[in-house]
Amino acid sequence: MTRSDQEGHLPEVDYGEVMDYGEVLWRWLWNLNEYGMCLVNNVPTLPGSVIKVCKRIGRIQETLYGKVFELLVKDNPATIANTGEGLPLHMDLLYYKSPPGLSLLHCLRYDDSVIGGESLLLDCYPILEDLKNNYPEQFHTLTRVPATFQSIHHTGVPPTHFIRRVPHVVLGHHEEIVAVNWCPIAEGALQVSPVDVEPYYQAYLLLAKLFNTSERLLKFRLLPGQLISFNNRRILHGRNSFHSKERGGVRHFEGLFINVDESNSQFHLLNNKFGSEPPKYVFNHSVF
Ligand SMILES: [Fe+2]
Repeated sequence: MTRSDQEGHLPEVDYGEVMDYGEVLWRWLWNLNEYGMCLVNNVPTLPGSVIKVCKRIGRIQETLYGKVFELLVKDNPATIANTGEGLPLHMDLLYYKSPPGLSLLHCLRYDDSVIGGESLLLDCYPILEDLKNNYPEQFHTLTRVPATFQSIHHTGVPPTHFIRRVPHVVLGHHEEIVAVNWCPIAEGALQVSPVDVEPYYQAYLLLAKLFNTSERLLKFRLLPGQLISFNNRRILHGRNSFHSKERGGVRHFEGLFINVDESNSQFHLLNNKFGSEPPKYVFNHSVF
């Protein structure tokens, strides 16, 4: 099976086995590499468990959100993440020069009284392969013309002034797709040659439509004790809006980011031991 021909698929592993057995740890990383995402079940619903899980496959990438961030409705929220608003499909922190490679989100509590809040995941790669086959010109434009990703909030907490300009689709040594940059909610003004403006927006709107109407979208309620892991440079994530039908209903996730480099190394090491063949790619790097 290649990266492009699988339907939306959410593989699963068990926390206890991930912590105890090298082969299941390899299976987790293999799933993350092959499908871009993997669920970890039966993670203790204790604050900080996400750090323990992270340590099995890499190191925390600290960001402006700190080492571990909370997704929980708060009074006077600093970000939309701490409200009950829905979040459209996006990738995180694309305005960094080194955006996080992997994301972990662990559900600590999700009361039955909370209506909505389903997690959304969409694998970009098969959609981009379709775009490449059916609209090669638009695909090429998205590999060439840089979009602007930014976070400029001088009075924010903390204050930020990040800008990064990069095309939406990143190709590897053999013209294969190795990473994606897609975050409409963090895009700034396009700064390109005038001749590229119209082709860019035509291609952009086409891809946005393909993403937003895809039947491959996974929608699910992450249950307490479940942790979803995914490749932040391949998988779009989002959530539906939510509210509690009773006073005090809580939806509480803890999350963190992982720099992908050490997970890359860990996967190679475990694959040498448990895999049947060397990988052709590891996360967002071609190795052939
Ligand atoms: Fe996000």
